[in-house]
Amino acid sequence: MSAPSMTLYHNTLSPFVRKVVVLLHETGQQDRVALQDCTLSPVSPSAELNADNPLGKIPALRLADGNVIHDSRVILEYLDQQHVGNTLIPREGAARWRRLTLASMADGIMDASVLVRYELALRAPEKHWEEWLDAQRDKIRRALNVLENEAIAELTSHFDVAAISVACALGYLDLRFPDLGWRTANPQLANWFFEVSQRPSMIATMPKP
Ligand code: BEZ
Repeated sequence: MSAPSMTLYHNTLSPFVRKVVVLLHETGQQDRVALQDCTLSPVSPSAELNADNPLGKIPALRLADGNVIHDSRVILEYLDQQHVGNTLIPREGAARWRRLTLASMADGIMDASVLVRYELALRAPEKHWEEWLDAQRDKIRRALNVLENEAIAELTSHFDVAAISVACALGYLDLRFPDLGWRTANPQLANWFFEVSQRPSMIATMPKP
């Protein structure tokens, strides 16, 4: 086994980082990337990360030539072009746009969830903006509803960029909002998530609070 040639700014709690690490496992590339732990929040940034990604966001991936790429979508696309197995992001055609759109829906669930998490965890309760929180939760509910009613067969068909992204979004909901009860309204999604959670890539990337 050779030394890793790339370095990933990493935090086990980030669903965006988890997508990248799941893809590394699914494509057999985990030994190529060293994980550099990075603890941060919007109000306690990492100076080292900021130097590599001015947006101060993870994941960011330092390549073998020293260049740094971000965000998670770009990193997934890059890494999916670095292995010889089946691609996890279709390179062209209708399938590409459909699978990326499902992945985008999952990313939107993560975006809204992380924003709610930060508002609740970082701001004083008397400053919470309840209407805004409700609007973020509505986005999550609507997206879950669409995945439940329109996308289960597609998610079940293969564990690619779309399925990885949805699985990481649901994992984050369980991590930060265990009382949300998303399974009640989305039983098919719940069954699907139970199944994919048994995959070695999902087990290896379980968030560790
Ligand atoms: C979290 O603690 O919920 C979190 C950490 C890093 C990125 C996103 C979320």
